[in-house]
Amino acid sequence: MGESHGRTALVTGASRGIGRAVAQRLAADGLLVAVHYGGNEEAAARTVELIAESGGRAFTVRARFGESGALDRLFDGLAAGLAEHGEDGLDVLVNNAGINLMASIGQLTEEEFDRVMAVNVRTPVFVIQRALPLLRDGGRIVNMASTATRIGAPVQLGYIVSKTALAALAAPLANELGRRGITVNTVNPGVILTDMTSPWVTGEETSAWVESITALGRIGLPEDVADVVGFLAGPQGRWVTGQSVDASGGTYLGPIPQA
Ligand SMILES: NC(=O)c1ccc[n+]([C@@H]2O[C@H](COP(=O)([O-])OP(=O)(O)OC[C@H]3O[C@@H](n4cnc5c(N)ncnc54)[C@H](OP(=O)(O)O)[C@@H]3O)[C@@H](O)[C@H]2O)c1
Repeated sequence: MGESHGRTALVTGASRGIGRAVAQRLAADGLLVAVHYGGNEEAAARTVELIAESGGRAFTVRARFGESGALDRLFDGLAAGLAEHGEDGLDVLVNNAGINLMASIGQLTEEEFDRVMAVNVRTPVFVIQRALPLLRDGGRIVNMASTATRIGAPVQLGYIVSKTALAALAAPLANELGRRGITVNTVNPGVILTDMTSPWVTGEETSAWVESITALGRIGLPEDVADVVGFLAGPQGRWVTGQSVDASGGTYLGPIPQA
């Protein structure tokens, strides 16, 4: 166990992918982790099981973001889970749950746009608002945006707008919460192999293309991002706030200069 024993974390969307890896990393650092999920109970239970197998502590909380009453369900479940483990406060909040939307301006519908904004922006804003009374001094907030915000693919228009808005939370919140020692940062993953990307990224041609535009020459893994979150959430990240951190292995940095 690390030096963080006794601290607690809420990781949204921790049943699968990046969120699961973040939950595992924070649990390995000694935090009690609330593993939030939207509907995949089996996957969330598996995250808790993996954490327990490594000697960590975690519990699940279900709330389908975008549905009415989701925030009440999230915070009721969080309070109950913390109480069961003899805790009542929060040290780390990772707003990771999110959805993709592939539609260019001509294809985008108002319903799809509302949904991506509701899950990727509106919910995290009010998760933060509801978490603040629980968040102890010296706490950490990490919001999961995307390198899509600097790449500008037309088919990701709605997703890019949502993740850019999410990233915009860091600076004003960092200023408001800094005097309490609370840091607020954004992590921008590149292409990471998860359920979200596997339908298109596992094809030979696509994976070769992603590798070709990535300085470190491979597709990212959830653990590559989780370690960045672990740093920001841990004691060594204390002097970083209001920032966006790129965790993409150097994706789309521009053409490789010829010798
Ligand atoms: N993968 C990438 O290449 C990549 C790149 C950049 C940024 N990101 C961002 O990183 C985050 C995680 O991505 P991922 O690839 O790990 O995703 P993923 O494998 O699709 O997992 C999504 C997670 O979010 C939860 N979730 C989705 N919609 C939800 C809703 N409406 N309410 C509550 N929970 C919901 C899911 O819960 P259930 O299991 O219950 O469905 C699951 O835990 C997202 O914000 C994504 O935009 C991903």
